[in-house]
Amino acid sequence: MPIIPIFQSKQSGAGSEAELDRSRLPRHVAIIMDGNGRWAKKRGLPRTAGHAAGAETFRTIATYAKDIGLDYLTVYAFSTENWKRPVEEVSAIMGLLKKYLLEAIGKMEKDRVKMKFLGDLSPLDDELRELCRRTEEISTHYEGCQVNICLNYGGRDEIVRAVRAFAADCAAGKADPAALTAEGFSEYLYTGGIPDPDLVIRPSGELRLSNFLPWQSAYAEFYFTDVLWPDFAPAELDKALIAYQSRSRRFGGV
Ligand code: IPE
Ligand code: IPE
Ligand code: MG
Repeated sequence: MPIIPIFQSKQSGAGSEAELDRSRLPRHVAIIMDGNGRWAKKRGLPRTAGHAAGAETFRTIATYAKDIGLDYLTVYAFSTENWKRPVEEVSAIMGLLKKYLLEAIGKMEKDRVKMKFLGDLSPLDDELRELCRRTEEISTHYEGCQVNICLNYGGRDEIVRAVRAFAADCAAGKADPAALTAEGFSEYLYTGGIPDPDLVIRPSGELRLSNFLPWQSAYAEFYFTDVLWPDFAPAELDKALIAYQSRSRRFGGV
């Protein structure tokens, strides 16, 4: 008998014929966009080609998320740990981000997807930071799906920053440690004001969070797939959403 990892039996939809019920979508879906390098390697291409293909997949999935009516889509684009990669790969990723944002700004009035950046943008170069700022500013008033791009984001770094900000407010007499609640603390995170993700998806076969939204995904449902991010078509998102719809979320109750 083949050994089937326990997550496989639980995460697929109840019967593979299950259809997506668009009236019961999760409000917030978060995706770790992983597998670009392996996608390129399989094709004998440089890793950068995988990142370029991954950026196109992001464009398609963001538009699809808006079309089906998700309220929030949060994607992991570059982690605080990704600086460990060769400098050439990091600059290629940053270059692709600039290219992507320039194109997105050009088409913004048509696509009308609201974009926000989560993470410490201060180490990015001026041009990229300015593109992030403009993208957020132009899309502020758009209605519909909000797409959050996690850039130089790390969950632990986010929590430490939040603790520092809270401690500073306490020192300034603006906050009271004894009155702090989990909800109140959440407001200090990059995701302040954004509901927690209902569903976290990780393509590429890895079964870990890699420092992605550890606080916010405390009660999220998880969906893992071997599909590599550049191959993650809207049909793959449907599969994850169908699996989500077959779960029973109890939040500790019955
Ligand atoms: C994800 O793909 C993109 C980033 C982390 C920036 P990877 O580059 O991690 O692809 P693999 O995991 O090596 O296949
Ligand atoms: C997580 O993927 C970060 C992003 C997708 C941006 P990694 O490829 O960096 O994660 P690890 O190294 O496999 O944990
Ligand atoms: Mg990876």
